[in-house]
Amino acid sequence: MGFPKGFLWGGSISAAQIEGGWNEGGKSPVLVDYCTAGSTKERRQIWYLDKDGKRVHRNWEAVDELEEGCKFAFFDDLHYTNHVASDFYHRYKEDLALFKEMGYTTFNTSISWARIYPHGIKGGINQEGVEFYRDVFKTAKEYGMDPVITLYKYDEPVSLLEQHGGWRNRAMIDEFVEFARVCFTEYKDYVNKWMTFNEINIIMPRDGQKTEKNQRNLIYLHNQLVAAARATIVAHEIDSNLKVGCMICGNMSYPLTPDPLDAIARYENFQDFFCYSADTQMRGYYPPFAKRIWGKYGITPEITEQDKEDLMNGKSDFIGFSYYASGVVTTHKVEENDHTAGNVLGTVKNPYLKANAWGWQIDPVGFRHLMHLINDRYNAPMFDVENGIGLIETEGEDGICHDPARIEYHREHIKEMKKAIEEGVNLFGYTTWGCIDLVSAGTGQMDKKYGFIYVDMDDQGNGDLHRSRKDSFYWYKKVIASNGEDLD
Ligand code: BG6
Repeated sequence: MGFPKGFLWGGSISAAQIEGGWNEGGKSPVLVDYCTAGSTKERRQIWYLDKDGKRVHRNWEAVDELEEGCKFAFFDDLHYTNHVASDFYHRYKEDLALFKEMGYTTFNTSISWARIYPHGIKGGINQEGVEFYRDVFKTAKEYGMDPVITLYKYDEPVSLLEQHGGWRNRAMIDEFVEFARVCFTEYKDYVNKWMTFNEINIIMPRDGQKTEKNQRNLIYLHNQLVAAARATIVAHEIDSNLKVGCMICGNMSYPLTPDPLDAIARYENFQDFFCYSADTQMRGYYPPFAKRIWGKYGITPEITEQDKEDLMNGKSDFIGFSYYASGVVTTHKVEENDHTAGNVLGTVKNPYLKANAWGWQIDPVGFRHLMHLINDRYNAPMFDVENGIGLIETEGEDGICHDPARIEYHREHIKEMKKAIEEGVNLFGYTTWGCIDLVSAGTGQMDKKYGFIYVDMDDQGNGDLHRSRKDSFYWYKKVIASNGEDLD
């Protein structure tokens, strides 16, 4: 009973959200380098010049390609939270030592593509970037961690966008596979577990509209699924011991009413958002209901015979997933103020759940429920690589950030995780999201804190970046030391 021996415990971060050093060590800009912070109510904004040379900004999720004549640009009077982020680029040794002190047996971060290939294949490999990650992974390994590394996480190099026009172009597949090949080859001595695309399903259309953007996203997604499969094949060729997982944004939702139409809407929501991508990566082919989705959006991606073969030969070895909050689905009309935000998905409020300041509904039982859905469907090793809560926090007068709400959140989720394992779920690891404070992906804020380690930096750039251990730091250390038994 309880967590199996060797269960992996650790934390999760990502290159663009933690590193800073945005224009150092030969790195080229990535899309989110052009973003400023939003707030509890507003997503992060991306800034550029429109075709008349006028400065404009929009929700960063709305921008994957710029219209003809527009240009990304930096403006001196704006503060870009990503540029310094938590300054992991310069302080990784200190941070990894803190992870070690907590007793981590694993940790997850991503590799910035723009550090390895700043200008794509044709620009050549940036050796300084290669050496940076080598030292990060080597240090982690020396500190007793078995790292799980993500190749691509929300940090598309702008140079590739300029060269190829982004993921609608299949040239991106070759770019990605080459980048992956370099990473597997260079780091295989330190990294045995890999994930290809973080939350690959995040670009899945959700509003049921036949818009150009939705159609484009289905093509992007197809190209990314093929790129992930090809990278997985390459990893296995380089070293058959490498394990390569997919990583799916976990959405758990409930029907608002027992109306059968609500029930099927909820199920389709799960099929569309989770299973469309996960089935393809875990089974090696698109699920039958893909036809319904392609019909709904009025597009069928072009799937070549080679794609089919690669999807089948490049199936994932394990399923990585994230889980933060749950949502509610309904076909009935609900009042505007019965809506709330969520992890990417706007959702209907659940009267049985509390939410954080950003409206994400806290639901530990939903975590167990989702794990069962995944386990039943794929019967494969599972790794929860993200679970956490965003809170507004500061250090107290005693210099310590007291964060009982975070401890409570993780305690309840770990309890449900333990139950799930005892009920048969094949989960082999857990990394909490943002084990150290970092930039929020959705709102670009530094004020939205996720860590067990406090980082002194706010949305406006005030702070000296010093680190301090929160109460949760000591709590999680105890959890790890007891292999999940001591949760008090
Ligand atoms: C996950 C992403 O979906 O949500 C992370 O993989 C992200 O990158 C996390 O940070 C929390 O979301 P946010 O918007 O609060 O940063």
